[in-house]
Amino acid sequence: MASALSVITLSIFLCFCSLNLSIDAQTSFRPRALVLPVQKDAATLQYVTKVSQRTPTVSINVVLDLGGRFLWVDCDNNYVSSTYRPVRCRTSQCSLAGSDSCGNCTDAPKPGCNTNVCGVFPENPIIRTSTSGEVAQDVLILTSTDGSNPGRPVTVPQFIFACGPTFLLQGLASGTVGMAGLARNRIALPSQLASAFSFHRKFAICLSGSTNSPGVLFFGDGPYNLLPNIDASSSLTYTRLLINPVSTAGVFSQGEKSDEYFIGVKSIRVNNKPVSLNTTLLSFDSNGVGGTKISTVNPYTVLESSIFKAVTEAFITESAARNISRVAGVAPFEVCFSSQNVASTRLGPAVPQIDLVLQNSNVVWSIFGSNSMVYVNDNVLCLGFVDGGSNPRTSIVIGGHQLEDNLLQFDLATSRLGFSSSLLGSRTTCANFNFTSVA
Ligand SMILES: *[C@@H]1O[C@H](CO)[C@@H](O)[C@H](O)[C@H]1NC(C)=O
Ligand SMILES: *[C@@H]1O[C@H](CO)[C@@H](O)[C@H](O)[C@H]1NC(C)=O
Ligand SMILES: *[C@@H]1O[C@H](CO)[C@@H](O)[C@H](O)[C@H]1NC(C)=O
Ligand SMILES: *[C@@H]1O[C@H](CO)[C@@H](O)[C@H](O)[C@H]1NC(C)=O
Repeated sequence: MASALSVITLSIFLCFCSLNLSIDAQTSFRPRALVLPVQKDAATLQYVTKVSQRTPTVSINVVLDLGGRFLWVDCDNNYVSSTYRPVRCRTSQCSLAGSDSCGNCTDAPKPGCNTNVCGVFPENPIIRTSTSGEVAQDVLILTSTDGSNPGRPVTVPQFIFACGPTFLLQGLASGTVGMAGLARNRIALPSQLASAFSFHRKFAICLSGSTNSPGVLFFGDGPYNLLPNIDASSSLTYTRLLINPVSTAGVFSQGEKSDEYFIGVKSIRVNNKPVSLNTTLLSFDSNGVGGTKISTVNPYTVLESSIFKAVTEAFITESAARNISRVAGVAPFEVCFSSQNVASTRLGPAVPQIDLVLQNSNVVWSIFGSNSMVYVNDNVLCLGFVDGGSNPRTSIVIGGHQLEDNLLQFDLATSRLGFSSSLLGSRTTCANFNFTSVA
């Protein structure tokens, strides 16, 4: 592995050198971090980001997948690029992609269809479908940042990604052509970009709930400055990222660990009162079942049935004590309330606070009204959690609505998550990055 890695680094380095001959100023610049906008799609509630790829350069929209293992794009439709290169079998890039598979496509050669190519399994978790796809390299262009504004564009000449077929786009936000995986493995965007630019293997997401103003994704370390001049990286609480010993991917080989991000929720409190839970469900069993993960492809937090029941019962009781009355559920939510008697606060509707207690009772991810509640109309607001049934693979999946306006920084080198809790308490939001370029 070590020697494979150094070969990769070398080839990227060589490529930089040859580019240097023509555009010296641009390529000798080394960014300390990169920034991407992340726009919530109103129809699907997916988070969509934009990158530039190929020669000539095209801008593509892809759905963000925190647990995804790489960038995959539809190569069957409209993939035109003079710099596209399939990754051959048994090369260092192929082992970096975690693959030892070798395939031949029998149709006429084109992007996504070549012979002697390294294969992986691009996955669309929205429709729970994986299929085989060719590993390839092409130019990827991103935007650097000083932490406050977008700066000049930077290029990764041979970014490794996978080709998917057009049908794998089913269920994805309109106008998107693939998914951008941010998982912990080597060819996911965080590690590949960190090694291309020699910065820390850290990245941060700050999702906006607005379907008009984008949130932000940073690769590299902070500052992550949000208007009015608040460094969201300065007030993080840290917890360990846990490794699920059994892969959660659609297709994987025996013995493979999960590349997704799990944290150790030990208990849950509603209005500061512990909820009685079957704690066995909070850790992994020998098949990797159980535990808590973070997901950007689930719009709302999904709780295993008995946890859902316990948390919602506690929430209903505590709400009743505040004279907040329950009304009929509105799908997909079962627990809804009249908005009468619900005051508005800086942190959203004034409802009982839900705390995810982590390694000890002082390390708490607090969920306030803006992250727990969803207004379905002016008169009704619902608890934005859904029932995941009785035998889900993962007991707690913290979903998009609960992540919005929270900064989450993932440090892959130390396997640590930094989380801010609601930035609304610091008088800013994830839509407050200043996207005016200073390039
Ligand atoms: C793919 O085709 C090459 C010749 O082009 C052949 O040598 C190789 O064995 C084939 N591989 C598979 C897996 O069929
Ligand atoms: C707790 O959950 C585990 C795992 O699903 C199950 O085997 C066990 O029976 C549960 N315990 C109780 C008391 O329900
Ligand atoms: C709830 O309503 C009752 C009766 O109207 C009132 O006595 C009580 O003070 C209210 N409680 C709160 C927390 O507002
Ligand atoms: C955003 O950044 C630009 C460029 O630095 C600056 O001119 C502008 O004042 C900033 N906007 C706000 C609201 O601070």
